[in-house]
Amino acid sequence: MSSFTRNAKGHLCAAGMPLSRIVASHGSPLYVYSGDGIRDDYRRFADAVGPAGGAVHFALKANSALGVIALLAQNGAGADIVSGGEMARALTAGIPAGRIVFSGVGKSADEIGAALDAGIGQINAESPQEVEAISRIAAARGMQAPVALRVNVDVAPKTHAKISTGQRSTKFGVSTAQNEAADLYRRMAADPHIRPAGLAVHIGSQILDLDPFERAYTALLSFGTALRGEGLEVPMLDLGGGIGVDYQDGTATDFTAYGKLVSRLFADSGFKLGFEPGRSIVANNGVLLTRVIYVKDGDNKRFVIVDAAMNDLLRPTLYEAHHTIQPVGPVGPVEGPADIVGPVCETGDYLGLDRMLPALAAGDCLAVMSAGAYGAVMASSYNSRPPAGEVMVLDGTLHTLRRRRDITELLAEETIPAIG
Ligand code: LLP
Repeated sequence: MSSFTRNAKGHLCAAGMPLSRIVASHGSPLYVYSGDGIRDDYRRFADAVGPAGGAVHFALKANSALGVIALLAQNGAGADIVSGGEMARALTAGIPAGRIVFSGVGKSADEIGAALDAGIGQINAESPQEVEAISRIAAARGMQAPVALRVNVDVAPKTHAKISTGQRSTKFGVSTAQNEAADLYRRMAADPHIRPAGLAVHIGSQILDLDPFERAYTALLSFGTALRGEGLEVPMLDLGGGIGVDYQDGTATDFTAYGKLVSRLFADSGFKLGFEPGRSIVANNGVLLTRVIYVKDGDNKRFVIVDAAMNDLLRPTLYEAHHTIQPVGPVGPVEGPADIVGPVCETGDYLGLDRMLPALAAGDCLAVMSAGAYGAVMASSYNSRPPAGEVMVLDGTLHTLRRRRDITELLAEETIPAIG
């Protein structure tokens, strides 16, 4: 069931709590998450991949609110991180260091050092240069770093170009063609400061078709098996994230087919498995609430000018992403098409174009659906707009996760040099 449904009076609710009540007390723009939905979706994912075994590391980049991470941690999740900042968040929210996987193409020496000092579970290295850096930093500490090698198996994931990571033309992973990855793994195995943890792939995000996963995982399995054939230790295969979600209706993702695919491919393979889901756990468990400031009649359409903008939710602008938009209150008959736009001074500042919506007036509240993943985390203060705050409904209680900063706090981060 969707986390956002209408009650008998037609009011849209988050896990049973009317959004109109939440916006009245917390203001707008505001991200509202269903903690109940996040917990359910995490458990459904963990259950679906359970038979294949392995560890689930939630990809913090999708939603790194401490309250969300803490909820997932309580339900057994580890974390997939891509920066020292995300490591600090994971640790603060109660994820043990040993259950953190550090991904990403450009980890700095400071970040690697901090990860080793914290006792990180796994670092996914993406280049020979990075393996060398990890080895050097581990050597200086007299320790062995747990390193998996992210490989590039050259599979097109059939998704938006900006979130495709599986092809050789991208910056990600080390190619399995021409022995590059195999040679590097052999060097890792021979390095006294590295404990080879296995192999990793992540081919992209918002992937709705299982076929690219099957091709990438099959390639990973045969590569890992070949390395094992040489007598090398390859304990684990990290299968990344990438499962797509329904952005039209917000229907919960069915993880069953994915779980079956993984079981079929890896049953009896002897590899431990790892997973890094992000979007599929949180996307449809969050909305961005926004109030109408003005309704302006253009030549042949309405512009509904709202108080959320591209600085709060960048996905429509950056990826032409579709987010369904609906009134929070009871929905009247459709009046005609409308562009839902923000106050930022760019034509690309829109949340939705040509949407068939009822009559709207200043003060009405709209919900931008499926905004729980890559929403608040990608916000900025462009146009000196403090980004939206975040709240979560969990077990019938509303929790503030992050209050919206005010402009005084933004200005306090800066200094004016003594000039002139
Ligand atoms: N693991 C790695 C190494 C990743 O790079 C990513 C996402 C994930 C896991 C999680 O993938 P997911 O399950 O969420 O698809 N900002 C974009 C999405 C960027 C995804 C980047 N990597 C968007 O809003 O669509």
